[in-house]
This record gives sequence, structure tokens and C-alpha cells, in this order.
Amino acid sequence: MTMSAEKSLVLEDSGVLRFPEGFVWGAATAAYQIEGASREDGRGPSIWDTFSRTPGKVHAGHTGDVACDHYHRYADDVRLMGDLGLHAYRFSISWPRVQPDGSGPANPRGLDFYDRLVDELHGTGITPIVTLYHWDLPQTLEDRGGWTSRETAERFADYAAIVHSRLGDRVETWTTLNEPWCSAFLGYASGIHAPGRTEPELGFVATHHLLLGHGLAVKALRAAGADQIGITLNLAPVLGDDAEAASIVDGLQNRIFLDPVLRGEYPADVVERARRFTDWSFVQDGDLETIGQPIDLLGVNFYHPHTVAARTGEPANPVYPGTEGVAFPRPDVPRTAMGWPVQPFGLTDLLLRLSRDYPGTPLVITENGAAFDDVVEDGRIDDAGRLSYLDGHLRAAHAAIEGGADLRGYLVWSLLDNFEWAEGYAKRFGIVHVDYTTQNRIPKDSALWYREVVRRNGL
Ligand code: FCB
Repeated sequence: MTMSAEKSLVLEDSGVLRFPEGFVWGAATAAYQIEGASREDGRGPSIWDTFSRTPGKVHAGHTGDVACDHYHRYADDVRLMGDLGLHAYRFSISWPRVQPDGSGPANPRGLDFYDRLVDELHGTGITPIVTLYHWDLPQTLEDRGGWTSRETAERFADYAAIVHSRLGDRVETWTTLNEPWCSAFLGYASGIHAPGRTEPELGFVATHHLLLGHGLAVKALRAAGADQIGITLNLAPVLGDDAEAASIVDGLQNRIFLDPVLRGEYPADVVERARRFTDWSFVQDGDLETIGQPIDLLGVNFYHPHTVAARTGEPANPVYPGTEGVAFPRPDVPRTAMGWPVQPFGLTDLLLRLSRDYPGTPLVITENGAAFDDVVEDGRIDDAGRLSYLDGHLRAAHAAIEGGADLRGYLVWSLLDNFEWAEGYAKRFGIVHVDYTTQNRIPKDSALWYREVVRRNGL
């Protein structure tokens, strides 16, 4: 199966919303969030090992040391995906398993794990979708500056080539980075995520080196023969009556990534506004050409829109440097356990906007889902809140397809409850429940519902 299936008519019969033929249904996870086995088979430390051990950074001092023990239970987890009828599985590769200190020769035992996983997926009829970087930078690279250093971008391209040389015969679809906004602005500007640095300027420096790493990796993968390459961005429509406030946040959340990747340029207004933090001298000749290499897919992670308002005296939000005077009011709508507003129409708006402003790149929803406080009762999890969230967002995605968006697939976040970064294990996003004491898995009601959606290719 490929992501390039031609779209056929979206039929609606007897009240069933059907998705285009060949639409890809799946689920997503990330290495640090599920694998555990943090010291096994030569894996080196990552910035999340360090950060999660830093007092006060992660809820209750949780770490990814054991997580869902997926490293040992991957075959059972693949069987579970098979039972749910999934077409595709998006997982990430742990860079410090492959190169324990982020450079030099590969650690074959680290690659062996992904080799086994890919074979298991193929054996179950599930298409692997590989994310090369989902936030677990080797600590040794961070010690040399991490994403504030240009060298990290170069090392990333080497690593991409190593992974491709081992898996490229069986993996067709490659994602370079997951959500570089989080790496840059949560990791280096606001300190909410690893490595926990808190300098606004570094948010911009890291953004550029992440994007450069993306471009160099695209080149390396292309040279090695890959032809389904993309990047995953966390994108969000910005709502609110004040057009300037909305545009400022839109620039920092969306356009600072979309424009260089899909148009080969940084948005002028974002560059200008950030001049009080940086002179942008880290952008070198030729970088934007590298970053703007053609890609084959854009991965869209969507959770909720943002709402902003102009309010004199409001301090800047540290995750969006330079947003003094912009407030983030809470719309009066239902919320998930993360406190995130449930506003599915935002997904329709976003997909249509991408089709309009950045035409020609097929879209895949690489993450969408919700945390709720699940209760296990008699071995069953009635997660009506999550089910309704997913149903609403699939209807919103369908509306975007009908409006002309070239959406090729949907991957729910997440297959399993897992280590939710700074929230530790306190927030559960899985459609499958994980008991962290026994490692027992139970498909929640949303998983059983999703199995039917996949089977019917519709709602
Ligand atoms: C996204 C991340 C993913 C998960 C979800 C809830 O930002 O890519 O790992 O944490 O949010």
C-alpha cells in the first residue's frame, strides 16, 4: 500500500460517511514514549533521559525507562494492531539506539530492533511509517549545543542515511521530524520540554537548525532512493477577533515552518518581529534551498485551535517569544484532560487552508487524539469522551476532503497509553489502555469503534 492512492469520489450512502478509496487508517506512537529498555542493547542516553531525571521537570518524576515495555512486547503490540485492522503504523526510531552518542558508526543491535519490528508489521499486513526524530536527541549532541548547533543538522542527515540503509528496502514512507515547533520552542525557548533551556533567541536558532536537518535528511534519503518523504508539523488555526494578534501567533506556530519547507523562505513578518531576539545570522547561503527541497507528503498533527485576543499589558507567552499584548483566553467549550478545547471544525479549517495556501502537497493526519481520565470497569474502558472527540475530528476531516483537501490518511494518537512527556504517565491518549504495573493491554471502546471505522472506511 502506498500513500499515493488516487482519490475516488467520496460517497455518502444511507447516512454513512465514506472516505476515499485507498484512504490509509492507522495509529501512531513515538520511541521514548513507549519503548522502555532505556539501557538495553547499547542505547545511549537521550535528552529525555536527562530531563526526566531533573527534579521538577516531569510529573511525579516519571521517566521512559520502562514505559510500555514495547521494546520487548512489540510482537504482541503488532498483533493488537492487526486485530484492530490497522493499515499503517507510524512509529519513531530512537536516534540514541542507532548512534548512542549521535555520530559515528551504527550500533547494529539498536537497528536490529527496528528490523524485527518492520518485519513483524509486514508479516501482519501493516505498512510501517517511520519518523526519524521524535524528540529523543542523543545527550552527547546536546552537550555540544544540541539544535542550537549547526553540526546537529549535519549529524541528523548522517543518521537518516544509516537508518535508510538498514530499513529502506522495507520502509517506503519517511518522516524527518516530528513537530519541530515543540523541539524548538518548548525545548529551547520556554524549557517545558527537554533539554529545558529558556532563551527566546534559541527558539529561533533551533528552529532553523531543525529545518536545515530536515532539508539535509530529505537530500540524503532522496539520494538513497526514497520517494515518499515528508515532515510532520503541529499546526493550528488561530482564532480571535484581533487580526494582528492572530497573525503573530500564526506566524510563530504555523508559517515559520510551512513557508521555508513548502516555499523556501521564512515569512518576512516573523523575521522582522524576531529581530529583537536575533539577527538571524545563523541562516547561511543555500540553507533555504536545502530546507525547501520538494517533499511528497505533509504530516499534520492536530489537537485543537488556538484562541487569542489583544490585551494591553499582557506579558509574552514564553512558548511564543515576542507576544507581549497577546492574551490566550479560554473559549467556553468542552475540554480534554489536558485542558485542551474540543473544536473539531478547526481541523476542517486547517486542512482547507493548507490546500489553499500550500497547494500540491498531499496531506496525512499523522496525529489526532485526546487524553481523558479513563476508568477500567470489569475489564472494560468506556471512553465515550475520546470516542466522540475522534468521531468529531473524522467528520471534520471528511468535510475538508469534500471541500477539496488532498488528505490521504489518518493516524490516531495514540495506539497505547504512554509517557506523555512533561505529564508523565498521568495523561492517557491511547485507544488501548495500558496497566503500567502488569503491562496488560485492553482495547478501549474507542479502539473497538475505530476498528469498525477502518473496516467500513467511514463513519
Ligand atoms: C504531540 C506529540 C506526541 C504526543 C501528543 C499528545 O505534540 O507529537 O508525542 O505527546 O502531542
